[in-house]
Amino acid sequence: MFKLLASVVCAVLYGSLVATAPLGDMSLSLSSSASSEAVSTSTTGDPSLPSPTVAYASDDPNYWLWNETTRTDPQAERGKLGASILGPQNVPIDKQNPDILAPPTTDSGTVGNAKWPFSLSKMQLQTGGWVRQQNIQQMPIATAMAGVNMRLEAGAIRELHWHQTAEASWAYVLNGSTQITSVDRNGRNYVATVNKGDLWYFPPGIPHSLQATNDNPDGTEFLLIFPDGQFNDDDTLLLTDWLAHTPKEVIAKNFQDNIADWDDIPGSQLYIFPGVPPPDNQEPPTSPFGTVPEPFSFEFSKVVPTQYSGGSAKIADSTVFNVSTQIAVAEVTVEPGAMRELHWHPTQNEWGFYLEGTARVTIFAGTGIAQTFDYQPGDISYVPTAYGHYVENTGNTTLRFLEIFNSDKFEDVSLAQWLALTPPKLVQEHLQLSNNTIAHFNNTKDRVVGPKKTSS
Ligand SMILES: *[C@@H]1O[C@H](CO)[C@@H](O)[C@H](O)[C@H]1NC(C)=O
Ligand SMILES: *[C@@H]1O[C@H](CO)[C@@H](O)[C@H](O)[C@H]1NC(C)=O
Ligand SMILES: *[C@@H]1O[C@H](CO)[C@@H](O)[C@H](O)[C@H]1NC(C)=O
Ligand SMILES: *[C@@H]1O[C@H](CO)[C@@H](O)[C@H](O)[C@H]1NC(C)=O
Ligand SMILES: *[C@@H]1O[C@H](CO)[C@@H](O)[C@H](O)[C@H]1NC(C)=O
Ligand SMILES: *[C@@H]1O[C@H](CO)[C@@H](O)[C@H](O)[C@H]1NC(C)=O
Repeated sequence: MFKLLASVVCAVLYGSLVATAPLGDMSLSLSSSASSEAVSTSTTGDPSLPSPTVAYASDDPNYWLWNETTRTDPQAERGKLGASILGPQNVPIDKQNPDILAPPTTDSGTVGNAKWPFSLSKMQLQTGGWVRQQNIQQMPIATAMAGVNMRLEAGAIRELHWHQTAEASWAYVLNGSTQITSVDRNGRNYVATVNKGDLWYFPPGIPHSLQATNDNPDGTEFLLIFPDGQFNDDDTLLLTDWLAHTPKEVIAKNFQDNIADWDDIPGSQLYIFPGVPPPDNQEPPTSPFGTVPEPFSFEFSKVVPTQYSGGSAKIADSTVFNVSTQIAVAEVTVEPGAMRELHWHPTQNEWGFYLEGTARVTIFAGTGIAQTFDYQPGDISYVPTAYGHYVENTGNTTLRFLEIFNSDKFEDVSLAQWLALTPPKLVQEHLQLSNNTIAHFNNTKDRVVGPKKTSS
């Protein structure tokens, strides 16, 4: 009773300190038991600590308020803030985005749209497969990378082509296996079958093809990344398109043939078309110049992930996949109740792709701007260089996602490690934390942090 009274008195004092704070916020802290404890602690804490020059942050835990299994229709309400929706409502989309319809009170301003479901990308249906893409048109914030999702039926071919700009082409195989072929500028060739969870990378301007094997009778599907937000998969240079737009006498002269030898070439591009599934172990023709010195594919699925207290991560950048100098990737798993820790990437933009489970992410842009997004499998996320963020598992199954960077190396800075390795007194002067709290900060990066240990 005394404690409750004390907390009410404190809360009233607190209220006078922050007369401009919204009423809803105040009532929320009053009704939350966690807040009364925190408010009383802060008034009875170490008197040597400086009193804050600004009001304390709200003690509202700001959980996501519902999930896809919640029966009731989601409303634009958090505590006393907001009100129900009276007009039309797209309930399935609102169910997937609790932190957009009822944002945490810590959100402020907007960072730009950092979520794009591939489900909203226009499908291009072809004989033998399909393709859809996301670039700066769909997500203006995503200036440094663009993504393409492609599906090929067994044997189907994404035809021999190359790319116009100085960009590489990187891929992660989502299902089945894809056979890749390439010949570099020195006549060195390469053929490999790239399996589920493995990667390929073609340096800028180097021609290549992609073909589904029948390892999976349904063929293959993969995610392509280009280190340029303006990339458009319709702008690639295709073998058949070039020849269809070259005078036949020039073609014949080039190959020292008769025009009649070229009677049956396609009159327009093929792009994606059916073909005969290639054998997995197909070898390229023997080149007098050998094969490419650095393989264009990488068995990422065989890399053993590093375990953390709440999940795992494995990394493929140019330090292990030598040729991949423009793209780096981390594949992360987060167990239920755990999260990818608060961190940022010092010099890299992050293009994210959700493979399994559900997540929420708050992107902190500085100058008081922070915005929270929720993600489902098949969704794309984007975090600009150096923006602070975390990735929290909001479901009851393992969350698995890719962090992809336009960089030769994976790099991150951990908030916990930063604070653990800064003089504690200095940290205390910022945050008014107890010695014991600071002593628990992990000085070794725990990239995926599990729920609080009950013993501590
Ligand atoms: C891969 O595709 C098969 C269908 O061919 C499907 O049953 C399976 O669930 C897919 N696996 C993943 C991980 O998506
Ligand atoms: C990749 O580079 C490292 C160091 O430069 C080298 O030791 C390794 O053999 C290279 N790997 C391949 C597959 O070329
Ligand atoms: C810090 O994190 C590392 C990496 O996950 C882990 O091995 C270690 O046990 C953690 N230390 C503490 C004190 O929790
Ligand atoms: C989803 O929400 C329901 C209540 O609507 C709750 O019982 C359940 O625990 C939630 N699941 C997760 C994974 O948060
Ligand atoms: C969590 O698990 C329960 C029981 O297995 C299931 O019914 C529910 O749909 C799951 N998902 C969420 C988001 O709670
Ligand atoms: C916290 O640690 C500092 C030294 O690092 C010490 O001077 C101070 O007395 C400690 N405070 C408490 C409450 O133990």
